[in-house]
Amino acid sequence: MCSFVNFNINGYHYKLPVIYGTFCDKAINISQLRENTGFITFDPGFKNTGITKSSISFIDGEKGELLYRGYPIEQIINKCSFIETSYLILNGELPDTAQLKYFSEKIKKLNHIHVKINQILDQIPNSYHPMGILSYLTYILDTFINSLEEKEEEMYLHLLAKLPMLAALTYRKKIGLPPLPTYADYHLDYISNLLKMFFSIPNKSYKQNPIIVDALNKVLILHADHEQNCSTTTVRLLGSAHAGLFSSISAGMSALWGKLHGGANQAVIEMLENILKSGGNIKKWIEKAKNKKDPFRLMGFGHRIYKNFDPRARIAKKVAENVIQKLGISDPIFELAKNIEENALKDSYFVEKKLYPNIDFYSGIIYQAIGIPKDMFTVMFALGRLSGWIAHWKEMKFNREPIARPRQIYIGYKKRNIEN
Ligand code: ACO
Repeated sequence: MCSFVNFNINGYHYKLPVIYGTFCDKAINISQLRENTGFITFDPGFKNTGITKSSISFIDGEKGELLYRGYPIEQIINKCSFIETSYLILNGELPDTAQLKYFSEKIKKLNHIHVKINQILDQIPNSYHPMGILSYLTYILDTFINSLEEKEEEMYLHLLAKLPMLAALTYRKKIGLPPLPTYADYHLDYISNLLKMFFSIPNKSYKQNPIIVDALNKVLILHADHEQNCSTTTVRLLGSAHAGLFSSISAGMSALWGKLHGGANQAVIEMLENILKSGGNIKKWIEKAKNKKDPFRLMGFGHRIYKNFDPRARIAKKVAENVIQKLGISDPIFELAKNIEENALKDSYFVEKKLYPNIDFYSGIIYQAIGIPKDMFTVMFALGRLSGWIAHWKEMKFNREPIARPRQIYIGYKKRNIEN
């Protein structure tokens, strides 16, 4: 393994250090490049730019592998609950029984929100998208927590405890249910509590369905972390400017909402519904996606890093199959999705460009099967991604990363004078 790369610019010879990761992933350290050569690098979309060293998750895009803190996602999904996974992502190791009990109980103790949040929510028009509402409520949440007096670790737990409550309140307001849960049920686990807060109806005891609990546990695990994606990078960038934790997470949610990122889960179901409504001609829609003059893209297909199957999509498909079958649902949208996948994966356009289904191709089908409406899909994604965002924030602070401030190549006017 070389520790330097040599290169020449305009007859001058330079040596740049090479950084290696655990799996021999390699980067040329260009931090002194401009100082030494006068050049900067140009990399729109950061396709070739590493912004940090991280030890939270690892993706091998060529093999289609995903590790959380070293553990393959396929093992985590079968052996861990969502709350254990969150602990792992945040703390680096899986919890033992005592650690898990302590962590879960600490979160439960913080399972309450200020009554004023309900009043604020009341003022927000029902037409607002739940992602905008969640991002806003997260942004103002620290006003209701004495963030100056509490330790930072405690703030992470506040977020883990309160985000499901904010999501549930947002959902309940949307569909006209009373804002029942200003606190959660101490006897329930994280996911069961979440479901109860969403779906419980006054004067009726809420009965948990283990099939739904299991499906939600799994789909949220699949979202828990995904290295330097757009929303996580957003959280890190804000944090690097020493913005607050809550506003950084709120900004991450806004990034996640984008249709090319987490917002794709809603866009996928809307696309599938449109395809079905217009007669289900799969070939026609695949041709549309391939046509460069048509802005339409096959939502839920393609990924910046995965150039082989997204392992999360493979698991999500199985979870969808399982929950649909066990709940006895007949879902033409799922059948259509599987058909589209089969057709696209035989098409040379998708094969050559290495476009495979991503997590969002099937996650919406799971959410729909468990009763979550379309405009809440990305909110669910945010609940899953929370531990990842916090872990990256922690790591960024621990590394004492400098303020993120890219450069540019200016192509505007030359210096000129204002005419009288
Ligand atoms: N349908 C049709 N063509 C596609 C698709 C798609 N879904 N995705 C990529 N392509 C084509 C592009 O047109 C481009 O073609 P070209 O080289 O001929 O110009 C080529 O494949 C490469 O695509 P880029 O957009 O350059 O790839 P990038 O890495 O920048 O984007 C992205 C990745 C945003 C995920 C893209 O594949 C996409 O838009 N997919 C649909 C949206 C989606 O599902 N997003 C969720 C991603 S997962 C997540 O964030 C949770």
